[in-house]
Amino acid sequence: MTEPLTVDHIHSLGLTGRDFLCELDFTAKELDSLLQLAAQLKQARKDHTEPELLKRRNLAAIFEKTSTRTRISFSVAMSDQGGNTTFLDGATSQIGHKESPADTARVLSRVFDAIEFRGSDHSVVEELAEYSHVPVYNGLTDQWHPTQMLADFLTMREHQVDPGAQLSYCYLGDARSNMGNSLLIMGAIMGSDIRIVAPKALWPEQAVIDQAHKRAAESGASITLTEEVNEGVSGAEFIHTDVWVSMGEPKEVWTERIKLLQPYQVNQAVLDQARPGAKAMHCLPAYHDNKTLVGEQISRDFNLNGGLEITHEVFESPANIAFDQAENRMHTIKSILVATLA
Ligand code: CP
Ligand code: NVA
Repeated sequence: MTEPLTVDHIHSLGLTGRDFLCELDFTAKELDSLLQLAAQLKQARKDHTEPELLKRRNLAAIFEKTSTRTRISFSVAMSDQGGNTTFLDGATSQIGHKESPADTARVLSRVFDAIEFRGSDHSVVEELAEYSHVPVYNGLTDQWHPTQMLADFLTMREHQVDPGAQLSYCYLGDARSNMGNSLLIMGAIMGSDIRIVAPKALWPEQAVIDQAHKRAAESGASITLTEEVNEGVSGAEFIHTDVWVSMGEPKEVWTERIKLLQPYQVNQAVLDQARPGAKAMHCLPAYHDNKTLVGEQISRDFNLNGGLEITHEVFESPANIAFDQAENRMHTIKSILVATLA
């Protein structure tokens, strides 16, 4: 039976006041309870029965890097729950260029109930958390994208053919980026069958791989790191990818990245090697056509047609569940807010 959405139930999860910086800071049970809470909040919103558990709570949301999904998710989740969000960035506030993370954290935690941060170096969000008296959430750093992981897991659970069975998924692309690291570690903690498929030059750092094996030994996860697309994809139910060049990387790296990653593009031939009915996933935004400035320019410069990391054909097919993933960002971020602040 599902517990009612009450403050007592939320407190019983034991996550009150916690930061949300990296998947490694959590047990499988804690992450699972956040996923269950997200599913409950999603249903309650649909049924118009969602209780307001964050009335008069204020969130400071710092975006040093651009965002659509993460930004709207924090904002709408707070608003649904009766709270408020104030957005800050480096250009229009003192943060970064004129005030350190430590000082910023001490100021913001006098006024706000929680702080979200999206930026480059993970040490910045750690410093914010160290000096803040209120919970700090990582809305993406170069190393980790933990709020995305909750959305990805909720989405996979919703779509898996055998509900409750071990999730089997594969990530093709730049695996030493935030998405590669996070998908590897989250799967290791949650006991998934996780396959990282990338050229060795783009595998996660050894320290991340070691952590994954350590957590897998506890959870029963199966970890495969391979350069072979067929070996990685074969039998997987979900095929993830992400942009080949992440925010903050110079545009000069495109040439090398395309050369390295073109064999790892998510296209129909790749999906055909996966489990029948396999779904394609992408945290978005995606370069699947020429309708963006970057997509158009890169396709023209490199004479590519029909998509970069994922083909337009797959992106527009029923196999693509990236928009469910995008919606689930909001429900799962709401779950973190409620679990830590209610
Ligand atoms: N997936 C994701 O983090 O999207 P945004 O960059 O739009 O927030
Ligand atoms: N790896 C991507 C994720 C975007 C949500 C980036 O950091 O740009």
